[in-house]
Amino acid sequence: MSPDLDQLVAAAGAAFAAVSQPAALENEKARFLGKSGAITERLKALGKLPPDEKREQGARINAAKEAIERLLAERRQALAEAQLAERLSAESIDVTLPGRKRSAGGVHPVTRSWIRIEEIFRSIGFDVADGPEIENDWFNFTALNSPENHPARSMQDTFYVDAPDAGGKPLLLRTHTSPMQVRYARMHTPPIKVIALGRTYRVDSDATHSPMFQQVEGLWIDENVSFADLKAVYTDFLRSFFETDDLVVRFRPSYFPFTEPSAEIDMMFTSGPGKGQWLEISGSGQVHPNVVRNFGLDPERYIGFAFGSGIERLSMLRYGIDDLRIFFEGDLRFLRQFN
Ligand code: FA5
Ligand code: MG
Repeated sequence: MSPDLDQLVAAAGAAFAAVSQPAALENEKARFLGKSGAITERLKALGKLPPDEKREQGARINAAKEAIERLLAERRQALAEAQLAERLSAESIDVTLPGRKRSAGGVHPVTRSWIRIEEIFRSIGFDVADGPEIENDWFNFTALNSPENHPARSMQDTFYVDAPDAGGKPLLLRTHTSPMQVRYARMHTPPIKVIALGRTYRVDSDATHSPMFQQVEGLWIDENVSFADLKAVYTDFLRSFFETDDLVVRFRPSYFPFTEPSAEIDMMFTSGPGKGQWLEISGSGQVHPNVVRNFGLDPERYIGFAFGSGIERLSMLRYGIDDLRIFFEGDLRFLRQFN
């Protein structure tokens, strides 16, 4: 090979080594081996030479051409391998990572209380009922002895539904489970012994009040059910629910239009971490004669008690929680503790 051709081969080697992409490599190839590349130009020029020189020079050029082709093939191979290695590392899977498991669901703490309440009252002979959350004016108020302009109606700030009932009055989200007393009693004959659990709604929001909360209504009507029975049943219920005798119950005189006399039920633990703090958990009382009449029963013959308790409040006490809004935030760190 002439020094000129040696230089050409060296230049091709350097040019191929300088590129890092296959497409760029093909451009460099054209500069040497393409239709007007350096090697091709030299081969074209051979025609002008005498036959002896043509053969000799031709052999040299062909040797240089082969050398360049070899360099090209080597570089192609190197680039292809580099590209494969890069892809393999980009797509690599870390087989030591733990897999994604489908996590199991659990029962919400308020639902746990609901289930417990049902079990306890069923065990002492109470039926369990449920009814509509969208209620009409009559069941939510009127049948419960709160006539149209009675001030007791404003005791509960109500969510009204943009639709009238059959009598033209707006429907509402029930403000308590007490309408279930009337719905159930009108469908059954005494002795009536029932609880009804479900969602209730009020325009209310702070650490112990939520706009949606749950109540359990209790109703026991017969010929001689007294306030003393209410005290006994409810106190026993609390002892079973909290699995302790270390609690005290207070029946604080109060007012509800549908009971007379009426009482708020407060309770307090006498031992353990939550001891010493009263919390209101329930309204209660002896069912008012006007309400017994709306049950379709004779108030001279039938008498009994009712109560309506907050299920979140019971859950707060059971689990030592001081803000009931956490029940509705869906925070798994909180909820997982109960399962
Ligand atoms: C009533 O709702 C009456 N219907 C209870 C009743 C039934 C009295 C039968 C007599 C006979 P009150 O508004 O006090 O009463 O609510 C009862 C319980 O529900 C309260 O003691 C409390 O535990 C719970 N509660 C009331 N409002 C909320 C609220 N916004 N968030 C969470 N719990 C509440
Ligand atoms: Mg109250």
